[in-house]
Amino acid sequence: MYRYIGNKSKLTPYILDRVEQLIGKTGTVADIMAGTGTVALELRKAGYSVIASDVMTYSYHHLMVNLCLDSAPSFSGLVNHGAIGKNEVDAYGAVLTYLNCIEPKEGFFFKEFSPGGTPQNGCDPRKYFTTENAKKIDAIREKINEWIDNGYVSKAEESLLKHTLIMAVNEVANISGTYGYFLADFKKNANAQIDLKPVEFCSVNSTGHMVKLGFAENLAATITADLCYIDPPYMKRQYAANYHILETIARGDFPDAVGKSGLRDWWEQHSKLCTKTRGLQSFEKILGDMHCPKFLISYSEDGLFTLGQLEECFSKFGTVEVQEIDYNRFRSNDSKLPKKLKEYLISIERQV
Ligand SMILES: C[S@@+](CC[C@H](N)C(=O)[O-])C[C@H]1O[C@@H](n2cnc3c(N)ncnc32)[C@H](O)[C@@H]1O
Repeated sequence: MYRYIGNKSKLTPYILDRVEQLIGKTGTVADIMAGTGTVALELRKAGYSVIASDVMTYSYHHLMVNLCLDSAPSFSGLVNHGAIGKNEVDAYGAVLTYLNCIEPKEGFFFKEFSPGGTPQNGCDPRKYFTTENAKKIDAIREKINEWIDNGYVSKAEESLLKHTLIMAVNEVANISGTYGYFLADFKKNANAQIDLKPVEFCSVNSTGHMVKLGFAENLAATITADLCYIDPPYMKRQYAANYHILETIARGDFPDAVGKSGLRDWWEQHSKLCTKTRGLQSFEKILGDMHCPKFLISYSEDGLFTLGQLEECFSKFGTVEVQEIDYNRFRSNDSKLPKKLKEYLISIERQV
């Protein structure tokens, strides 16, 4: 399960309907804050060419899997170097079996994120993962890094392995919704043993898509599309801080873990859209720079900006229309916020 703030899995039918109303059944759609890649995948399935991006590295790997693979890659480099057998029919399955059986190691995750470790900064041990799972994650991460450094896995294979590891890590993380902090006691799911499971591949429409990594404000001028879907953060909560552990897995690095919660330095991925002072300027930069006649923007009734503020900003770029959808909001387990919420789908059509 992927509990990601703002994940649009429940709203994709509305989004896809609106995309079709605006540009018909074919064309190129950009999804420039694509997160888990849920919307990008549905756009692919519906037959569109998709250009997807996000500022987070984990999102890049999810998007590579969701958009560019239609079956498991061959892992020929690992076969040639003897990590898996030559006669394996299912090479991806064999790689996962190898990684699932790997000898646990006392590495970075053990030290920084499990009760068995002693954080570098002298804080009390953290409890994001059981000690056993953290050691397993260390061993898997180090093996994937070794394969990348030796050139044994292709870029697509690297993305698939990291995507698969992140999905498995989400299952055993001892958190309440996000990785902003860990829970005091281990929950049932966190006590289970981590298990890499093969992902399901989408078999249709696998060519002609593009995946990019970076701020939408910077990428906008490089993108040409028939429609651009924008799913920005709605609140002040920064994704880079709330998903820091997934970012570390995606990058395969060993950053300083700061403070009680062990956050990596996330400032370089800090989003202006999470701020009242600079969010609207960001929208203006994106809408102004992108080569695109139509935009569709998701937003929420309780977002940082009111609908009126957004309409005023967006109407500088074209004709604005708003669709309202009743929706159950994302809530961490202990949240007292009301469940029902209005979600907006705002379209902009440039005047010609
Ligand atoms: C609401 S989530 C998108 C969820 C996505 N539609 C899904 O279904 O998983 C917002 C995303 O915007 C990304 N983001 C925030 N500011 C950004 C920016 N300035 N440029 C690119 N991506 C940004 C975040 O990393 C996050 O993944």
